[in-house]
Amino acid sequence: MALRLDIQKHKDIPRKQLEEIASLKDQHWPHGVDSQISWILDNYEENDVHLILYRENTPVAYASLNVISCQMDSQAEEILGLGGVCVDRSCQKQGLGKEIVEGANRYIAQQGKPGLLLCHKELTEFYSRCGWLDMPCGKVTVAGKKFDHYVMSYGKAYEGVKRLAIPKNF
Ligand SMILES: CC(C)(COP(=O)(O)OP(=O)(O)OC[C@H]1O[C@@H](n2cnc3c(N)ncnc32)[C@H](O)[C@@H]1OP(=O)(O)O)[C@@H](O)C(=O)NCCC(=O)NCCS
Repeated sequence: MALRLDIQKHKDIPRKQLEEIASLKDQHWPHGVDSQISWILDNYEENDVHLILYRENTPVAYASLNVISCQMDSQAEEILGLGGVCVDRSCQKQGLGKEIVEGANRYIAQQGKPGLLLCHKELTEFYSRCGWLDMPCGKVTVAGKKFDHYVMSYGKAYEGVKRLAIPKNF
C-alpha cells in the first residue's frame, strides 16, 4: 500500500494533524490527547518539524525534529533532536519505524546539522539499523537533570564527549 511522508514545520502544522500526532503518541505514552497537544504547543519552536507517515491517508507513524543548542564540553553545538518516534500499534514490525526514521535522516542531511536522540538500551539496536551511531558520553543532562540512558547521533560521529548538556526534553 502506498506510503506518503508529510513533513510540516511546527509553525504551519494544522490542528487536524496535531490531533493525529497526539492520538498516535498517546497509544505509547498515555497522558491523554489534550495533554499531548498542550505539551507540543508548549515545547516546540517555529522551525521544529513534525514528520507524519501516512498509509492510504491513515497516519501510521510519527517523529519530530527539534532544533536545539546543546553544550558539548566547551563547545556549543546546534543539533536536530529526534523525538516522539512511534508507530501505530496495529502496524508495528512492518518496516514503518525504519521508514519514518530514514525520512528524518534525509531531512537532517539536508539541514547540514547533526542529529541526536535519547533512548533506552533496548532501542539502540533499532536505531542502529536505521543508520544511527552510538555516542558514548560522560555526564549527560537534559533540562538540568541527569540522563542515564543512551545517546545516539546521525550525520556526525562524536568521540570522547565528557559533558553533554541538552537544555530541554524532546
Ligand atoms: C520502536 C518502534 C518505533 C519500531 O518501529 P517498527 O515499525 O515496529 O520497527 P521496524 O519494523 O521499522 O523495524 C526496523 C528494524 O529494526 C528492528 N527492530 C524494531 N524494533 C526493535 C527493537 N525494539 N529492538 C531491536 N530491533 C528492533 C526490526 O527487527 C527491523 O530490523 P530489520 O531491518 O533487520 O528487518 C515501534 O515499535 C514503536 O512505536 N515503539 C513504541 C514507541 C517507542 O518506544 N518509541 C521509541 C522512543 S525512543
